[in-house]
Amino acid sequence: MTRALYDVIARRRDVRAEFTGEPVPDEVLLRVLDAAHRAPSVGMSQPWDFVLVRDSATRRTFRDHVAGERDTFAASLPPERRATFDRIKVEGICESSLGVVVTHSQSRGGAHVLGRHAIADAGLYSTVLAIQNLWLAATAEGLGLGWVSFYRESFLRELLGIPADVRPIAWLCLGTVSHLETVPDLERHGWRSRRPLADAIHHDTWQHHPAPPQTEET
Ligand SMILES: Cc1cc2nc3c(=O)[nH]c(=O)nc-3n(C[C@H](O)[C@H](O)[C@H](O)COP(=O)(O)O)c2cc1C
Repeated sequence: MTRALYDVIARRRDVRAEFTGEPVPDEVLLRVLDAAHRAPSVGMSQPWDFVLVRDSATRRTFRDHVAGERDTFAASLPPERRATFDRIKVEGICESSLGVVVTHSQSRGGAHVLGRHAIADAGLYSTVLAIQNLWLAATAEGLGLGWVSFYRESFLRELLGIPADVRPIAWLCLGTVSHLETVPDLERHGWRSRRPLADAIHHDTWQHHPAPPQTEET
């Protein structure tokens, strides 16, 4: 059982190119959303909601917006990085089975959310944990999931009729896949590699760190 969890964590991948587009059975989708809804949340605020987007016209509109944001980012890159970025797919919005837009409501739970008085972002952390639960459950179900963040919040809010005080946090492309890659796309395409775990561990203070200090670029 323990090994099964670690296995799912290791197999989880951000998926862009491997979607096959078949429908996800309702009971599977509900299990995955239930896993997300069981996430821990500050003061039990459960500040998340899930907008399931199946409509193809809506998805095409969002895909075109994302393509524009991809161009904006590409234009900011020096030539060598741009050549690498040009090979990387950043979304599978129309190829996936559906979009799951996860939103965050900072007002959920009222004015006195237990545990959030000093750290307002604790609400946001809770919503992100729901996303991670969703991602792992999807992996356990043999589905793929890809997080898209190349968009302007105001555009997505308007597209889906999300209230002004609710933030769209992620468009998740969810669906059936041919396979999951074993190496992250960004690593396979030479954009960036994973840091060794040892570089991330500090003992007692930030300074007690066996690895040499990293530069800001790394
Ligand atoms: C907050 C967040 C936003 C992300 N946005 C995008 C995105 O817009 N497009 C994309 O292709 N991947 C996106 N990713 C996926 C990361 O690129 C991916 O998680 C990372 O390269 C590690 O690969 P892995 O998830 O397959 O291990 C995002 C991931 C996170 C956590």
